[in-house]
Amino acid sequence: MPRPTIPELQARASRNEPLVMLTAYDSTFARLAEAAGIDFLLVGDSVGMTQLGHASTVPVTMEQMLHHTSAVVRATQSAHVVCDMPFMSYHCGEDDALRNAGRAMQEAGAQSIKFEGGARWASFVTRCTDAGIPVMGHIGLRPQQSSLLGGYPAQGRTAEAAQRILDDALALEAAGAWALLLEKMPSEVAAAITEQVNIPTIGIGSGPHCSGQVQVMHDVLGLDATFRPRHAHQYADLAEPIRQAFAQYASEVKDKSFPTDKQSVRGGEGLAGFPKPRGDAT
Ligand code: KIV
Repeated sequence: MPRPTIPELQARASRNEPLVMLTAYDSTFARLAEAAGIDFLLVGDSVGMTQLGHASTVPVTMEQMLHHTSAVVRATQSAHVVCDMPFMSYHCGEDDALRNAGRAMQEAGAQSIKFEGGARWASFVTRCTDAGIPVMGHIGLRPQQSSLLGGYPAQGRTAEAAQRILDDALALEAAGAWALLLEKMPSEVAAAITEQVNIPTIGIGSGPHCSGQVQVMHDVLGLDATFRPRHAHQYADLAEPIRQAFAQYASEVKDKSFPTDKQSVRGGEGLAGFPKPRGDAT
């Protein structure tokens, strides 16, 4: 099956068929997600926390996003791959921003880009769209703003704040965005946006009324026992079985029960004439 195109994804959303998005950062897990029927994979800047050991998305660079996105693209054939624009990759002038968005497609092979920002970014969205770069806008909670916000608080909890998010949504749609990611806002606000725009809305922590949902892979798999965000639904608890497998491996190497003959190569007659090892190593 080929990767779904933007018109196909939009048509599915307008037929009220929920779209499923999951983050992915490497080939192994991207392949598994695609085999499970995930429609599109977001190579999120959450890679900073899930893979690179950072405390936030702020340190993630464009080069790192290209590196991870190309791994996900190489491993998949039927998922639409979205590359997240990291902190400072689109803030230093529109020419620079456009060039970086283009790199996500040209060098990493992404089918779309996502960036965090509302109405003020409309002209960037239009320039990308004019250049043939499909853009997903990310509004509501914008994690790249965590230094200003003092963390990751829900957004749009007053009528004025909700109206600003709705205005952002309408402005991004008018500028050419093909979809919107709605993060951590009241369900009523996400529902109103979904009703008022004609492009798919993909929610995270924003209730059930969006056109689709996105989750962070590590949350869904329960890979980090120390971090269980409220908006995440954990479908498996893999941290403990993985730890146990590693511990068993370590213990079998230490007690010399691994490797056995089964995992070893024997030279046989070809080694005739080669000095035989002495001691208990044989
Ligand atoms: O980077 C990320 O993982 C995101 C989430 C909101 C899905 O943008």
